[in-house]
Amino acid sequence: AANIGSIIYFSPVIYVILCYFIFTKLSFFIVLIGYMGSGKTSVAIELSKQISKPFIDLDNLIEKSEKMTIKTIFDKYGEIYFRKKERFYLENIINSNNYSIISLGGGTPCYSDNMKLLQSRENVYTFFLKVSPKNVSKRLFVERKKRPLISHIDSFQSMEKFVSKHLFERMPYYSKSTHQIDTNNKSISEIAKNILALLT
Ligand code: S3P
Repeated sequence: AANIGSIIYFSPVIYVILCYFIFTKLSFFIVLIGYMGSGKTSVAIELSKQISKPFIDLDNLIEKSEKMTIKTIFDKYGEIYFRKKERFYLENIINSNNYSIISLGGGTPCYSDNMKLLQSRENVYTFFLKVSPKNVSKRLFVERKKRPLISHIDSFQSMEKFVSKHLFERMPYYSKSTHQIDTNNKSISEIAKNILALLT
């Protein structure tokens, strides 16, 4: 017998009805959590298109508001300064009435009790986008220069080693999310569909 998950997943009609339901009822934050390169921003953009709600990327907001790249903030003022700014802008978003989709930075849930802040709000749903160290290392090795925590890593092997350990350390924070989504071998739109199906 077909289970409800596969009916929702495969039926475009049910899918459109789901989107309509979410579009009309949505009065909460969808917060995307996960390691660097796990696809948070791309999934947020896709969700935003599908349910016509504005999205905010926390890193982008910090860069725009501070008129500096994340890399420059790290280089000039250090990580602790960045983490304080990160907390400040996260609180601003959560306390505003612009209900929306938010993609966090990879480290956001692990500092300043940010996860506690998110868990304390009834209208906040957190989604942890899970990705294997191998898959994410492939992506990150190519893009490492713009990411201050990994820009110094000079071989794929070292990247995988660093990512495996770092991801393991961060897991206790990430796994406090409302939902966990395995993103390995899934397209951005499949991940967005999985999220919408979990919201209804
Ligand atoms: C960080 C992740 C980055 C950015 C900063 C620190 C982290 O965001 O916030 O470089 O600690 O994992 P992305 O996950 O969007 O790359």
